[in-house]
Order: sequence, then C-alpha cells, then structure tokens
Amino acid sequence: MRAALVVANWKMHGTVVEARALAAQVRDGLKRPRGIEVVLCPPFTALAAVAEALAGSAIGLGAQNCHWETSGAFTGEVSPAMLAEHGCRLVILGHSERRQQFQETDAQINLKVRAAFAHGLTPLLCVGESAQERSQGLTFNIVEGQLRAGLAGLSPEALGRCLVAYEPVWAIGTGVNATPAQASEVHGYLRGLLSELASKEIAQFIRILYGGSVKPENAGALLREPEIDGALVGGASLQAQTFLGIVKKAAFRGGNPKE
Ligand code: PGA
Repeated sequence: MRAALVVANWKMHGTVVEARALAAQVRDGLKRPRGIEVVLCPPFTALAAVAEALAGSAIGLGAQNCHWETSGAFTGEVSPAMLAEHGCRLVILGHSERRQQFQETDAQINLKVRAAFAHGLTPLLCVGESAQERSQGLTFNIVEGQLRAGLAGLSPEALGRCLVAYEPVWAIGTGVNATPAQASEVHGYLRGLLSELASKEIAQFIRILYGGSVKPENAGALLREPEIDGALVGGASLQAQTFLGIVKKAAFRGGNPKE
C-alpha cells in the first residue's frame, strides 16, 4: 500500500510569528508519525521559521508555488533553487487558485514541474474541474488535459516521483467535499492515465491526494478509499488540532482495530 501523505496548504495565511507557532503545535502533536507522511507548506516568508520549527522532526517542508527559472529578472518570483535551499522537499504546482486568479497556463505549469525536479523538489501537480465543467460532463476531459500537459515530457522514472492532487474547484474552500465515490472515480481515472504515461508498475507507486474541504469529519471516509492516498488540506490546516485530526484519520486508514 502507498504510504499516506497529508499536505497542509496554508495559502496566504500566517505571519512569521503565527507560522512558527502553528508549525510547533503540529510538530508537538505528531511526535512519532507512523504509516504517514506530513508536509507543511507555509507562505514563502515563513519558510525559514517553519523549517527551524520542524528541524529534527519527521514533518517535511514544502512551498505553494515557484518560478521555472533558477534566477533572473522576474520581479516578485521565487525560484525552485531558493526553495530547495530552505529545505523544501515538495512544491505545490498548478493549484486552481494559481490557474484562475493568476492565469497560470498548463504550459507554464509544465515548466515549473520540470524545474522543480531539476532542483530535487517533488512536484505536487493539482488538477480539477469547475462546477460548470462537472455539470457539463467534462470532468474527465479537464483533468486529463491538465495531467497530460502538466507532466508532458517527463521520463517514466520522473513520473514515478511525482505527486498528483485531485482538487475539484467546486470543493475548495466551500465546505462541500467530493464524496468518496466521486473522488475515487477520478483518482482511478488519473491512475489509468499515469499507467499509460509511465507504466502500470510505476503508476502503482504514484500517490494521488484528494483536496477540497477535507475536515476531520470527512477525512476517514475519503481516505479509506484505496485510490485516495492522502489529502491536500487548506482551511482545516490552519488549526493544529483540526489538522492533526485529519492526519490521524489518514494514519489509521488501513483500519488497525487497536487504534
Ligand atoms: P480547502 O483547500 O481545504 O480549504 O478546501 C484545499 C486547497 O485549496 O488545497
């Protein structure tokens, strides 16, 4: 079974002081994570403070975006090399908020995915359809287009090191999560595509996370689905107790009766 992964996307929340405190609370609440990996993605400005708070713990550090160049005249941008220097191990790419509010294209996202790899970062590629696209029966077309374009040109070996998140746009920050069946159906479809792009064997290793209004109350049912390998958590990751509640559900998704 693929080890569960829970990623906190703090978005544009948290001053350095707040981020340090939240990271410390998560760290203290997760002394010996078992059967689970956890990564916190604070805003750029808090990366150093969170890295310090997490030092020596099993919790990883990630970022929410990056540029594709290593350095240069790109005012306001942050490069993958800079993230790696801070100790980031993954970077969220192609989040729907980047696509919608900052007009990121699939071609740009693909450049970012490749640049992330070049600097030793694991890309977490986000895909997902809008409410309108779902109502028009376009869900599979949309996620397929985003997946193929985002991962274009990667070797099967590189594909095997990618992470994917299915985040239906209508579920993000709305309180309305995809049902376990809805999410599982799309995850299965994405894994089929990954088998085609890499190989069946490699696709079995690629973790596909679900994101969109994940809470402690719904995490158990979502994560019990064999195709759902973890969660990308926004709003509910801003409170340590709520986030830890989700992490617990993910750790026990195999259903250890003693725990
Ligand atoms: P949400 O956000 O958990 O607040 O819905 C998820 C995300 O945008 O990654």
